[in-house]
Amino acid sequence: MGLLDGKRLLVTGVLTDASIAFHVARLAQSEGAQVVLSSYGRVFRLTERIAGRLPQPAPVVSLDVTSQEDLDALPERVRAHVDGLDGVVHAIGFAPESAMGGNFLDTSWEDVATAVHVSTFSLKALTVASMPLMADGGSVVGLDFDATVAWPVYDWMGVAKAGLESTSRYLARHLGPQGVRVNLVAAGPLRTMAAKSIPGFEEFENVWKDRAPLGWEITDPEPAARACVALLSDWFPRTTGEIVHVDGGVHAMGA
Ligand SMILES: NC(=O)c1ccc[n+]([C@@H]2O[C@H](COP(=O)([O-])OP(=O)(O)OC[C@H]3O[C@@H](n4cnc5c(N)ncnc54)[C@H](O)[C@@H]3O)[C@@H](O)[C@H]2O)c1
Repeated sequence: MGLLDGKRLLVTGVLTDASIAFHVARLAQSEGAQVVLSSYGRVFRLTERIAGRLPQPAPVVSLDVTSQEDLDALPERVRAHVDGLDGVVHAIGFAPESAMGGNFLDTSWEDVATAVHVSTFSLKALTVASMPLMADGGSVVGLDFDATVAWPVYDWMGVAKAGLESTSRYLARHLGPQGVRVNLVAAGPLRTMAAKSIPGFEEFENVWKDRAPLGWEITDPEPAARACVALLSDWFPRTTGEIVHVDGGVHAMGA
């Protein structure tokens, strides 16, 4: 018996085999789920290629979360592969370089707006676009980086994540009556493509080295992926608007 037997999932955000979403998809399949991936634009083919490294082949549908046309077409595109969804994984983040790396005081509104559109509003956009597929309720899980404090170099991405945390709580409020749970996994730093685009990312690695009571491995996305699988399963049936920290314990420590 797998934890996700019979579940149909849409997993966004698979870019490389280091992507957190790749490991969510991999573990979800090994726990019995049927997985549909989404990707967009120039990286679509790359996602298709990486999908070949999953335990089972997974179809890839086209979804740029900032495109209303793609969002409107999502139910039809997903229905070409599965007859509905029991879960959706939001593993999408992007901020222009000027919005991170210590440039906080000088970032333009246009660049901040891009970060918030792709990384924050997209949780609402993706969830609402998926609602026609979740007639019997479902579980939406997003990937967060603890936004309760100001980190070095994270800058406007930190603001976008604070917005993501709030967005997930409002989605939980609005969609609870329809049986849809919305939760986040706040992961510690992981060496993915998104992380490589953050100038000065190494600073995080040192914080985690010093402060994680359980220790932290920046090349191991599996702990975060496992938490996503758990939240997608039936084992958190009355949990919504929650943030599960998978960070080796850093969020709970003082200096
Ligand atoms: N890597 C970390 O240290 C870390 C820690 C905590 C949370 N997270 C979060 O995890 C999530 C996944 O990131 P990752 O670290 O696995 O990196 P990643 O680079 O593998 O994934 C980021 C994904 O966002 C997708 N994306 C960007 N713009 C998009 C758009 N307009 N439409 C659709 N997809 C788009 C990219 O295609 C990519 O697949 C992000 O939300 C990130 O902020 C990452």
